[in-house]
Amino acid sequence: MKRAPVSLQSETKLIFELSRQGRIGMDLPPTPDHLPDPDLPADLIRNSPLRLPEVSENVAVRHYVNLSTRNHHIDKDFYPLGSCTMKYNPKINDELAAHVGFAALSPLQSVATTQGALQMIHDLSQALLEVTGMDDITLQPAAGAQGEFTALLMFRAYHIKKEGTPRKRIIIPDSAHGTNPASIVIAGYDVTQLPSDTSGLMDIEALRANLSNDVAGLMITNPNTLGLFESHIKEIIDLVHSVGGLVYMDGANLNALMGIARPGDMGFDACHMNLHKTFSTPHGGGGPGSGPVAVKKHLAPFLPIPVIKSENGKYDIEWDRADSIGSVHSYFGNFGMLVRALAYIRSMGGDGLKAISENAIINANYLRKKLSPTYKLHCDRPCMHEVVLSGNNQKAKGVRTTDIAKRLLDYGIHPPTVYFPLIVPECLMIEPTESESRETLDEFVEVMLKIDQEAGENPEILKTAPHNTPIRRLDEAGAARNLNIRYFKDK
Ligand SMILES: Cc1ncc(COP(=O)(O)O)c(C=O)c1O
Repeated sequence: MKRAPVSLQSETKLIFELSRQGRIGMDLPPTPDHLPDPDLPADLIRNSPLRLPEVSENVAVRHYVNLSTRNHHIDKDFYPLGSCTMKYNPKINDELAAHVGFAALSPLQSVATTQGALQMIHDLSQALLEVTGMDDITLQPAAGAQGEFTALLMFRAYHIKKEGTPRKRIIIPDSAHGTNPASIVIAGYDVTQLPSDTSGLMDIEALRANLSNDVAGLMITNPNTLGLFESHIKEIIDLVHSVGGLVYMDGANLNALMGIARPGDMGFDACHMNLHKTFSTPHGGGGPGSGPVAVKKHLAPFLPIPVIKSENGKYDIEWDRADSIGSVHSYFGNFGMLVRALAYIRSMGGDGLKAISENAIINANYLRKKLSPTYKLHCDRPCMHEVVLSGNNQKAKGVRTTDIAKRLLDYGIHPPTVYFPLIVPECLMIEPTESESRETLDEFVEVMLKIDQEAGENPEILKTAPHNTPIRRLDEAGAARNLNIRYFKDK
């Protein structure tokens, strides 16, 4: 096996501890003569220097390179985190987003001086509308979850305008991503959760039985969180429409559909997409992300403001929309993410986007075939971009899915998503993405089979894993709830 455990136990010092008075890593250029002295109010002028670490360039570079190896990231190794789509982020995206013409712009500049940025936003909007088959779009939401919330506010506004009341309930399947019920509640609706049928799809009879004219809508992920395509989607959408409800596609998994099927053609009224999943912008650390929402014509009046107007090759910003739900983020959202997404779309082209989805599906099914004789398959049918397995066979040997996940870290691989979707016992949700080679997939399979063998021969090595990471098993809830990232000099 190529992957050998690598010990990373050596201490990394904090950059402040490396600081030595007078060491300098860079020279700032002199202020150009044509810039006037800033006329700052006295109380805004600093009267003591900012306390920054003083280090040479090589010490700074080594420090950050070392730090970057102490955690797992997509530039370091395979990261098959199901549902989160840790696909490789091409470096050209970053180069373009850092271009001074984009990076140094302010949204407060005049429309006349920001035509290029407005065109970029407009072009990205058009490209996303083409991929989704929808009529109009907002790029404002900063995450998929915020996109869901934004669309639900539009559903409310739509029903209030049409019927004078927002209606009461939103239906979701029990395989829904956790953000769906959270968005529903925050938007002021009640959640009705329906069971999935035995094939892992939405139970149409349960849907029929739960439909009435207090239903504002249905939220459904397609492909769903079991990695399966909801094959009765047209029937589902027609049923909800028949009681006046709206249908929302959680389009977080659009990376399985590009160039193959479009939510707009399926009949959805709205969908969000996660630029940080489908369109290769960075994902993680809580943002900045981007979750644009695309809608059909009848929801367009309710889109957040501002919106971009284009006329005769000139772009303008429109703030005046009587029925808009307002703003959910300043201006057009996380602008740098938008540049990256358009760079990706343009560099791939239409055929390239289709090939991405096809390869994502092929890679997931390759792992399904290779791993399912050893790890129990939840639904025995072809999957889309991710495959959902269960660690129940390994549980019978005395280890849990969490132990498998921790042991993977010893082999230098990030674990898949575990224990989600909640309806799968000992769940392992694996999303290889299209950007991984067959060699990487084969290595992953080899490691997974080795871990299964270890579970039988030496379960203790799994139960006490990870052994080779800078920090061993964490109190994960504590680390998330009591996060402390401040540096205290005197501590
Ligand atoms: C199916 C699904 N819905 C919603 C979301 C939420 O997106 P975000 O993390 O950008 O809020 C995700 C995130 O991975 C997802 O996989």
